[in-house]
Amino acid sequence: MEIIHISAECYPIAKVGGLADVVGALPKYQNKVGKKTGVVMPYFNTKFTQNNSFKIDHRNTVSLGDLLYDFEVLILENDDLGYPLYLIKIPGLMDRENVYGYSDDTERFLAFQKAALNWIVQFHDKPEIIHCHDYHTGLIPFMMLYAHQYASLKDIPTILTIHNAQYQGQFSFDKLYYFPEYDLSNSGMLEWAQMINPLAAAVKCAWAVTTVSPSYLIELRSAANGLEWLLDNEKGKSIGILNGIDTEVWNPATDPMISKNFNKQNSLSGKKNNKMFLCDKFDLNPEKPLFAFIGRLVGEKGAELLPEIFDTILSNPELDANVLVLGSGDPGVEYSLNSIKEKHKGNYNAFIGYDETLSHIIYAGADFLVMPSRVEPCGLNQMYSLRYGTIPIVRSIGGLKDTITDISEEDGFGICHENTAVDEACIAIERACELYKDQPKFKKIRKQIMQIDHSWDKAANNYIELYNKLINK
Ligand code: ADP
Ligand code: GLC
Repeated sequence: MEIIHISAECYPIAKVGGLADVVGALPKYQNKVGKKTGVVMPYFNTKFTQNNSFKIDHRNTVSLGDLLYDFEVLILENDDLGYPLYLIKIPGLMDRENVYGYSDDTERFLAFQKAALNWIVQFHDKPEIIHCHDYHTGLIPFMMLYAHQYASLKDIPTILTIHNAQYQGQFSFDKLYYFPEYDLSNSGMLEWAQMINPLAAAVKCAWAVTTVSPSYLIELRSAANGLEWLLDNEKGKSIGILNGIDTEVWNPATDPMISKNFNKQNSLSGKKNNKMFLCDKFDLNPEKPLFAFIGRLVGEKGAELLPEIFDTILSNPELDANVLVLGSGDPGVEYSLNSIKEKHKGNYNAFIGYDETLSHIIYAGADFLVMPSRVEPCGLNQMYSLRYGTIPIVRSIGGLKDTITDISEEDGFGICHENTAVDEACIAIERACELYKDQPKFKKIRKQIMQIDHSWDKAANNYIELYNKLINK
């Protein structure tokens, strides 16, 4: 393998959010252009791992202080993913149902990272690049540079891609004894605000840092949950690379999850069919424009404003709108989204939970997708929505700013607002209702957005260029 991606998530093996979609797709496109690329992730107890066959590639042990864990590296037997997949199985630690959310996540991800390096350090042919994603793999660049036992890896360029700087995985220096032996004078490279901070350590130690959109890179210098100064200081080795999407998985013409396939020629009937399916299932009115939200119900997505936004819109007698929500997260927001169901029966519904199939049908059947995000490092939803002919309504921030142009501008195709605020989101939705009334314009924009190319075919090259620069350094 020339390039190794190390990540906590990868679609379809284990997915919590967009990180999984990116790590599940980018390697496929890198292999297509001739870079031998593989993915290394923990073995979780998911549907995918239960339903697929693996063979054992390597057996070893990993220590955490005095505790010693046996682990196996499993390789997926079929090559359906388009890249080799290696799963590090650490029984008792990683092989659980969920990716995150356990009280021993620090131990779990530290053991995973050490196990990955215990394996890679034995390779006869060393990889050319190690590409780490988010804080869960953020200690790898540090360990490669400073841990004595991984000294043979220290000349391999490492990349950190920041998908979300909100989560940094900090823990106390009391746990330093989990680390492999290194010269303690280098401990400063692990530290931020008197804690061991895996994301900060990766920003300091990786050869290059990327963010998942150019705007997010700039925004992080003034809002990075405490790492602003560090990210500003490391701007020389940082670059924003906009994510792509997997146009094989996300293709309305072939998507097996939606109720009727369509392309831009027959999008009118295709989208109508999917909308009818949703309206039947969720008791909505197919005559009205359908606004949808899909996502994690957390502050970053502006989720706590959604109940008020939708209640305001649906209470306005001058607006004819329907709303469907798919999401899970903050229990208070889940409760509020459920509590307005009765008041707006027939025009509003919410499915609280995670449902991959339903998400595809909503991208296909909705007229507009609402994204009032407070922070959006890239955002994939708006790109899926474009491909499925659903017009995005976004707060202009991060990747949303980089991908969506307002209809008031030349060749604009989305609806944008400046701030994450109820009144601004409501005005944006009112503008969308106006656009819906102008059916010729609405249909023209729908056709236009389906042609926008956000495929990895284009975006993957930006990473290859970066790899080549680092390899030749
Ligand atoms: P983030 O990673 O911050 O959650 P992204 O826009 O990058 O945001 O990616 C979110 C991904 O997760 C998309 O593939 C989206 O369709 C999916 N998703 C989010 N919430 C749900 C849900 N409740 N059910 C199904 N898919 C979801
Ligand atoms: C993160 C971000 C999201 C981004 C995704 C994939 O989860 O919140 O904006 O699209 O990673 O990079």
